[in-house]
Amino acid sequence: MNTVPTNSHARELAHVVRGRPTADGAGVKLTRIIGQPALEMLDPFLLLDEFRSDTAADYLAGFPEHPHRGFETVTYLLAGRMRHGDNQGNRGLLSAGSVQWMTAGRGIVHSEMPEQENGLLWGFQLWVNLPAADKMTAPRYQDIAPERIPEIELGADARARVIAGTLGDVTGPVQGIATEPVYLDVRLDIGATVALPLPPAHNAFVYVYQGKARIGATPAHELVRGDLGVLGLGERLAVSAPTAAARLLVVAGKPLNEPVAKYGPFVMNTPAEITQAIEDYRAGRFGEFAARGENAPAR
Ligand code: CO
Repeated sequence: MNTVPTNSHARELAHVVRGRPTADGAGVKLTRIIGQPALEMLDPFLLLDEFRSDTAADYLAGFPEHPHRGFETVTYLLAGRMRHGDNQGNRGLLSAGSVQWMTAGRGIVHSEMPEQENGLLWGFQLWVNLPAADKMTAPRYQDIAPERIPEIELGADARARVIAGTLGDVTGPVQGIATEPVYLDVRLDIGATVALPLPPAHNAFVYVYQGKARIGATPAHELVRGDLGVLGLGERLAVSAPTAAARLLVVAGKPLNEPVAKYGPFVMNTPAEITQAIEDYRAGRFGEFAARGENAPAR
């Protein structure tokens, strides 16, 4: 663990948001937690979706060929398998415990399809904004297999998988991201208490995806499954599991404080740049999508 003075400023729970059910892609049922009226964004985070179903009809349609420009999509799978392909020639299979950090930059066309016909599909997609200076950078994929994500002990009764950022002397495998994100998957046994250092000026949230977790010492600040807690600024997060075991995402990123113009899969700084993105995509300037064969529906 990083050495954090015991009197350092702890992050308070600022407010709690519940996701709302929606559908996206070709009809995948999911819960949108960031990017909905209760939390339009949390700079630099534009969207957080959780998909969790063991009913194949909820996910089978997947996310066929679609574009992105101007930001990053981060997919973290807890259960199931997803096949991705894009027009840059990248192909991959996401399995349980793996993460894919895709920097769309100036433009990418990809597909994200469940590779299973039954069983549980469970995971998250987070959208991370890019600074204006990087919005037209070259597209980039970082595919991280489960065994490349270090899991560290936080005492005898808590563990964290470090996907991005640094915890103690462990740095996660996702590197070179403009907003210097921290992305942790934390597991607390009942009774556990941990203090997690976070960059003090980063915006941060926790999302409890199993059990219950308490922020700080106030009993009223207990979050249950499906609660996203927006955190105030500070040097560390004190989180505990006094009444039930908990699993939660802890995510932080450097705010960009730049204007945001959003239209579907395009996130730029001005409406004119959105118009340009639409024109570029329609004119084929994102490049051809070459993965039709393996993702096309059976015919
Ligand atoms: Co996508």
